[in-house]
Amino acid sequence: MIDVASLSQIEQLGQQHVLRYWSELSETQKARLNEQLTHVDWEMIRYYLSDLKSSERDVRSGRGTIAPPAHIVRCPRTDAELDSWDEARRKGEQILREGKAGVILLAGGQGTRLGFPHPKGMYPIGPVSGKSLFEMFADQVVTLVARFGHSIPYLIMTSDGTHEETVAFFEQRDYFGLGHANVFFFRQGYAPCVDSETGKLLCVDKGVLGMSPDGHGGLLAALLKAGLFSEMKNRGVEFLFLHQVDNPLVKICDPAFLGLHVRHGSEVSTKVVSKTSPDEKVGLAVDLNGRTAIIEYSDLPSELANEREADGGLRFWAGNAAIHIFNRSFMETVATSAANLPWHRAHKRIPHIDDEGHLIQSEVENGIKFERFLFDTLPLAKTALIVESSRNEEFAPLKNSSGEFSAEYVRTHIVQVALNWLKAAAVTVPEAATVEISFRFASSAEDLALRVKEVEDLTFDRPVYIGP
Ligand code: UD1
Repeated sequence: MIDVASLSQIEQLGQQHVLRYWSELSETQKARLNEQLTHVDWEMIRYYLSDLKSSERDVRSGRGTIAPPAHIVRCPRTDAELDSWDEARRKGEQILREGKAGVILLAGGQGTRLGFPHPKGMYPIGPVSGKSLFEMFADQVVTLVARFGHSIPYLIMTSDGTHEETVAFFEQRDYFGLGHANVFFFRQGYAPCVDSETGKLLCVDKGVLGMSPDGHGGLLAALLKAGLFSEMKNRGVEFLFLHQVDNPLVKICDPAFLGLHVRHGSEVSTKVVSKTSPDEKVGLAVDLNGRTAIIEYSDLPSELANEREADGGLRFWAGNAAIHIFNRSFMETVATSAANLPWHRAHKRIPHIDDEGHLIQSEVENGIKFERFLFDTLPLAKTALIVESSRNEEFAPLKNSSGEFSAEYVRTHIVQVALNWLKAAAVTVPEAATVEISFRFASSAEDLALRVKEVEDLTFDRPVYIGP
């Protein structure tokens, strides 16, 4: 039997075509279709249908008054600012000692664009070690746990496309020393795809809806479903540091960032880096209708993207590094509130069956995929904070197969950070040297300076890996 609640929505929204082959389906196929239908966000479909004729179809995409973000902490430049950051760092360290921080990794994405047919986190990015992104992140968490003497739960969101391989990868490597009990894998959800002209749900087979991952904003529902808000509460975790799978330079649980988040009474904080050019493809931190928000680069009108200040700098410069801290309680409130987050639409070529049940591979963008973006939580917060960070030290995401944000680009940046730390510790090192410093050896220039005796005799005439 078809689920009664779904049936009523199907009838109200004119989606009866999804049941056209119901009588031909086996019991297993019927159960699967029922299951898929219970996951359809009918309000989203209703909204889309009501909006079909609108010329401005994209939800909340940068409409309204836009200004540079007002609630922002810039990188420290004066002595007073350095002192203030130091104080924030001490506060953050206290939070880590008390075990009040957890970490979330968004790992639903695959390495397809890189020609790597696996979860992106498995990509071997270490310039000398060949370590995967996952291992580089784990190195950081293990180091934090050792330094602050408290466990840190690591919550890893996968998708159906990445789940099995990711879990197996961690298991085979004994969780990189994180401890099985501290690693939580959970899957993100799915959203149905619709025909862009008619708003009809697309089917990929008789009785099978076309579904796509619901975007990283699906994190909220996925955490709730996996019971992880309660688990974190029981563990005494109050703050959730969140990062993407693509950026090996992220400073996980950066104590200064944690301290600033708390000092400003922020519910969600975001790190930004200076954009390199008006058309760089990063999201932007802005004030949208007076509230702190992030909008995607594609939603910022190009005349605004090109606006300059009197000193020649970009007026909209604050690029989203996709590194956040959330209050656990705020995240849970958003996750449980009915309104939740808006849906964004992406026009795609989506395979589907026609009226005769034949599979069509569309040549044109025939359908819409719906995604939620996590950063749409910012305008919902009582206080949201933007914190500037050093682009060279903290931002080199792996996204493309060549050019900017390619593996070569990322490795060059990892090496550059190591060279900077060595130079700061007064170690003589040739400009062209290839060096990688394990986080387990030193996690900052200051750390390295303390262990300078162990590295000052190294020769850099071939690639060097400085490990524990
Ligand atoms: C993202 C941001 C952009 C920011 C940039 C910084 C969005 C919409 N855009 O762009 O503002 O400047 O990073 O690097 O967030 N993911 C899932 N499930 C999904 C979709 C994505 O887990 O359904 C994960 C990916 O594995 C990845 C992260 O979310 O870790 C970012 O996703 P991606 O689609 O690659 O965003 P970008 O276009 O790179």
